[in-house]
Amino acid sequence: MSMTLAPMEGVVDVYMRDILTKIGGFDLCVSEFVRVSNSVLPVAVYHKYCPELKTGGRTPAGVPVHVQLMGGEPQILAENAEVVGSLGPLGVDLNFGCPAKTVNRRDAGASLLRFPHRLHDIVSAVRKAVPAEIPVSAKMRLGFEDKILYLENALAIEEAGAVKLTVHARTKLEGYRAPAHWEYLAPIREALTIPVVANGEIWTPEDYLACKEVSGCTDFMIGRGAIARPSLALEIAQLDAEKFPWSEILALLVQYNTLLGGMDGSLRRAGRLKQWIKLLGRTYEPCSDLFISIRRFQDPAEIMAVVKSISTG
Ligand SMILES: Cc1cc2nc3c(=O)[nH]c(=O)nc-3n(C[C@H](O)[C@H](O)[C@H](O)COP(=O)(O)O)c2cc1C
Repeated sequence: MSMTLAPMEGVVDVYMRDILTKIGGFDLCVSEFVRVSNSVLPVAVYHKYCPELKTGGRTPAGVPVHVQLMGGEPQILAENAEVVGSLGPLGVDLNFGCPAKTVNRRDAGASLLRFPHRLHDIVSAVRKAVPAEIPVSAKMRLGFEDKILYLENALAIEEAGAVKLTVHARTKLEGYRAPAHWEYLAPIREALTIPVVANGEIWTPEDYLACKEVSGCTDFMIGRGAIARPSLALEIAQLDAEKFPWSEILALLVQYNTLLGGMDGSLRRAGRLKQWIKLLGRTYEPCSDLFISIRRFQDPAEIMAVVKSISTG
């Protein structure tokens, strides 16, 4: 069994990866996507999205972090992958799932799921551009507007040399709405020889068991569930682990705010805190009220003052 922390742009940054991998239960992380358009990005960009590249490609807890690229052009993606490859990553992942309008309009992310041959060409070009010992993997949704091409897409990705495929079990059109269609994962797993990682709508240990049962997968990725319930991966890995109490969550928020001190821009830092508090509200009652009272704040100090007032009663 393996558990991966999902890439989440604007949420799962180097600090969140540090905090969650220290809690435990994760075997792998994937960076926020690095958008590749029509130029070769400087090394500084890759170090910004994945500062772990400077420390052997692992979080302080020792969990590997793979670098995720997103784009639509095989050649320029390959040139960028070559740069990433020279920075000693422990893996490169390709994003074929992003539903954002701006991204899809510019022909990247989930819009590529309409063209299996393009997925193939991208994976193949990136595979050739990085040293053989660096694994190249991909992450896809079940389709763009419908699921007709889901198997064809998965097979194209495998055929092009990916060592692993993560499937977010929804189409682009289905966005992030429940349910995730775990029943589509079993046929993909049966058709492919590479590991298929199940992703989508795992919020509790019970959801994990249900996903495992329906999909038959042994590898999993959790995103929003891990942010909303920071002990989730640990609870899944260790049967005797329990959901963190609210006091522990408050301590984590304080820790995250301290780490965020390394990020430029107080508005950005405030945004990250708000994103986490909002998602925590899905599993921790006090956070729903907390989010309502801080949602207009633009200063991390203001947000933390409210958080701390709750911790002291
Ligand atoms: C705010 C947000 C940002 C995301 N950013 C990325 C990303 O950078 N790369 C990617 O492949 N998927 C991204 N995703 C998709 C997640 O990795 C994951 O596939 C999705 O949230 C479903 O899993 P979950 O139900 O466990 O959250 C993002 C999702 C959210 C909600």
